[in-house]
Amino acid sequence: MLLNRRQFLGITSATTLVAVCSPNALLGQSLPNHPQQGSSATLKTMQALPQQKNRLLGYPINMTTPSEEFFAWRKELFVVGLNQFAFNNVGNPYDQSHIAYNSHAFEKELINRFGAIYGFSPQNIWGFLTNSGTDSNMHGLYMGRTILKSRTGVMPKIYFTQEAHYSIQILRDLLNLEWVVVGTERDGSMDIEDLERQLNANPNHPALVVATIGTTFKGAVDSIDGIQSKMRGRASYLHLDAALFGSYLPHTQFATDLLHEISDQETGKKAKRYDSIAISCHKFFGFPSPAGLFITTQTNFESFLAQFSQIHDPEYILQVPGTITCSRDAVKPAEFYFFSSESAFAQQAADARTMLDNADYLLKEMTNHYHHLQPTRADNRSNTIYFSKPGETIVNRYSLATMGLNVDGQHTPFAHVVVMPHANKEILDQFLTDLGKDGS
Ligand SMILES: Cc1ncc(COP(=O)(O)O)c(C=O)c1O
Repeated sequence: MLLNRRQFLGITSATTLVAVCSPNALLGQSLPNHPQQGSSATLKTMQALPQQKNRLLGYPINMTTPSEEFFAWRKELFVVGLNQFAFNNVGNPYDQSHIAYNSHAFEKELINRFGAIYGFSPQNIWGFLTNSGTDSNMHGLYMGRTILKSRTGVMPKIYFTQEAHYSIQILRDLLNLEWVVVGTERDGSMDIEDLERQLNANPNHPALVVATIGTTFKGAVDSIDGIQSKMRGRASYLHLDAALFGSYLPHTQFATDLLHEISDQETGKKAKRYDSIAISCHKFFGFPSPAGLFITTQTNFESFLAQFSQIHDPEYILQVPGTITCSRDAVKPAEFYFFSSESAFAQQAADARTMLDNADYLLKEMTNHYHHLQPTRADNRSNTIYFSKPGETIVNRYSLATMGLNVDGQHTPFAHVVVMPHANKEILDQFLTDLGKDGS
C-alpha cells in the first residue's frame, strides 16, 4: 500500500507522540514494575516515625493511635465494600441520592449526633463531613456570603482578627470579599469595642463575621455573645472557626460556651448564637487523616440552597448538592462515625480533662523553672502554652511552631506547645528537661 505524504506524516508523528508521551520517556527514567520495587529506602525512613510521633508538640494534631475497636470498625466497613471499590458521597447527605455507593446514612447520623452536642435542634440541622477545618470554613463563608447577598442585595464585608487562621485570608481572597480587620485584646481575642467601631464605619454592608474559638498560635477565644451584642439590628452571619477547641470544649466544664441556642431568661424564647461551625477531625479526635465537620441549621441551608440552585444546574446528579465540591469522600464519614458513639464521647471527655490538666501542669512547671521564657496561656479553656522561642535543636526535636509576635512594639520570636492527648506528662517532662539543657 502506498501512503501519500499526509498519511505518512500522520502516522510517524502519532508514533513519535506515543513514544515521547510514555511515562518513562516523560520522566527520563525507567519506572519499577511493581510499587514495592525501589521504595524500600522511603519505607525504611518512615519506619522510624511511630517511635517519634509523641514528640510532636507544636501543632494541634493528636498523635495517639486510635483504639483496636476503630480498626475493627474499619474492617467491617471494608467487608461491605468501602475502600475496596469506588464509593462516593457526592450530594447532600440529607437528601435522596441517585447513586447507592455512598455512606450518607453514617454522615447524616454523625452530623446529627455532633450537632446535638453543640445544642442544634434535631429538627433544624444540616451539615456534612468535609475535607478539613479549612474546607468547613470555606463552606461557612460561602454560605454566609450567599445568604447575606440575597437578603440585602449587597455583598457583605468579612470581619476577622489578625489572630484568625491564615486560611481565612485565603478564603476571603477566593470569595472576593472586602475585609475588615478587627483589633484584638492583649490575650489575642477579638476586641469587641473595636468590632462595634468597625461595624459603625461600614453601615451599608452586611457583616460576615468569623469568630475564632481557639486562635491558632495563642489559643485565645473570641466572645460569641460579645460579637452578637454588637450585631443586633444588622444583616449579619456569624461563623465559628472552632477547628481545635470546638472538638473538646463540649466535653468540659465549658460545654455551654459553644451552645448554638440560649434561652432568654425573661421570655424563655430560644435565641440563635451563631450560624455555622467548623471543626477539624484530625486534631483533637485523633482521626488518622484530615477531615472536618461543617454544621449549620436546616433554615440556613434552605436559604442558601434557594440561591445556589438558581445559579448551579443540579440536573446532572438529580439533586441540588449544596456543597462546593462534587465528588466527596465516602470512606471518611463512615470511619469518623466511630467517633460519635457514647463510648467515644466518654473517651473524648476523659482526653479533654487530661489534656487541660496537662496544659495546667506545663504552664506551672514552665512558670516555676523557666520564667524568663514568659510562658503564657491566653485562656483557661486553652491547651496552648506559648513562650519565647528556645534554640533550634528543641524547636526541631519537638516540631514546635514558631512565630514573631509584637511585644510592646518589638518583633519578638515565640514558640508554642499545643498539649494534645498524646502529650502526656512523660513527654512534657522530657521537653522540660531538654529546655533546661537549652543553651540559647
Ligand atoms: C483556628 C484554626 N482554624 C483552621 C485551621 C485549619 O484547619 P485544617 O488543618 O483542618 O484545615 C487551623 C489549623 O491549625 C486552626 O488552628
